[in-house]
Amino acid sequence: MCRLLPILCGVLWLTVAAPADSPPDFSRDIQPIFQKRCYVCHGPQVQIKGLRFDDRQAAMRAIQPGDSAHSRLIAMATGVGGKFMPPTGPRLSADEVALLRAWIDRGAPWPDSAAKPGLWSLQAIRNPAPPAVHNSAWPINGIDNFVLARLEGKKIDPSPAADRSTLLRRVSLDLTGLPPSPAEVEIFLADKRPDAYERLVDRLLDSPHYGEKWARYWLDLAHYADSDGFEKDLERPWAWRYRQWVIDAFNRDMPYDQFTIEQIAGDELAHPAVEQRAATGFFRQTLTNREAGVDDAPPATVITYAGRSEDGRLIVRGSTSATGVVSRVLVSGEEAQAIDAGFAQWQATLDDPGRGVMVSAYAEDAAGNVEPNPHVVFV
Ligand code: HEC
Repeated sequence: MCRLLPILCGVLWLTVAAPADSPPDFSRDIQPIFQKRCYVCHGPQVQIKGLRFDDRQAAMRAIQPGDSAHSRLIAMATGVGGKFMPPTGPRLSADEVALLRAWIDRGAPWPDSAAKPGLWSLQAIRNPAPPAVHNSAWPINGIDNFVLARLEGKKIDPSPAADRSTLLRRVSLDLTGLPPSPAEVEIFLADKRPDAYERLVDRLLDSPHYGEKWARYWLDLAHYADSDGFEKDLERPWAWRYRQWVIDAFNRDMPYDQFTIEQIAGDELAHPAVEQRAATGFFRQTLTNREAGVDDAPPATVITYAGRSEDGRLIVRGSTSATGVVSRVLVSGEEAQAIDAGFAQWQATLDDPGRGVMVSAYAEDAAGNVEPNPHVVFV
């Protein structure tokens, strides 16, 4: 039918799918169909019939560029002998089939720059041409073209521009999390310079509140808290130092690699600053249970002596400090003997345990609740 009425068919898909003057775009219109409807069976993980639509060369087995009528992809999408692709879920819509047809008839362009499937953040940065739009008066910059092309495709008119005080309120909340003060509103409304808005954005980006607002997202991911988060919910009086480090990192525009390095290994840097050590507070941001005599750190256990007895057994002596009273120490499962009160010093004699001994110091609270804090020490 499209051979007889090419113009009608062309107009039909264009009106439903995209502005009349923009041909289907692979990344915008075609790849999402493959990704949503075909990849599970013909994609990176699975290739039924050896067919995959995440790779140009492989996909061309089912595509005749320039000739959708002889392309197996279209045949299967519209049904062959009662079989349809995809075989499960709803059929492709008429719009989707029309887009695929039009794309194939235009030679099935598949730019090298098209995103490879996978995590968005690993995709190469592209600089796509802004799409053509009907209402050329509306866009102010290239990004607006992308927004408007989608709106026009769905026959939605853009909203009218917001007035200046609304805009000020929005951008202030967005960048600093705070509404503008009455004085700030007055200043902005009185600023008639053509770049008044850009100056406003620069001022907000320079504000210390910018870091406070945007650090919150990272602090949430890091599970930041200034108390233990459980039961007695004891305070962590120094937690703010890590929080302040994150806020400062945002305000200083710290590059992401440095941001990551300092949090994971700030203490391992050459001559680390106190702040770089504080960055490793990242590792301490987790719910901690200190109930029933459990300290947030296990009782610190040090082996003070390890040696062989005359009959070849291993003698391990150590000391243990804990906030709760230590009532019992096991060394590789053997009861250690207390040398003084509270197991501050103890000794165990073991048949050969190999190179590592597991020391478990048991702390006990007044009610007799016991919590083990296993601790591996190598001798
Ligand atoms: C749930 C799994 C599944 C999904 C999703 C799926 N397919 Fe298939 N596809 C198959 C199976 C199974 C066959 C083999 C059918 C047969 O030979 O009877 C097949 C065969 C095909 C063939 C024929 C290959 C040949 O060599 O004969 C084409 C073309 C095709 N699929 C295209 C698509 C397209 C395009 C999509 C997405 C719009 C899609 N498929 C989605 C399972 C799937």
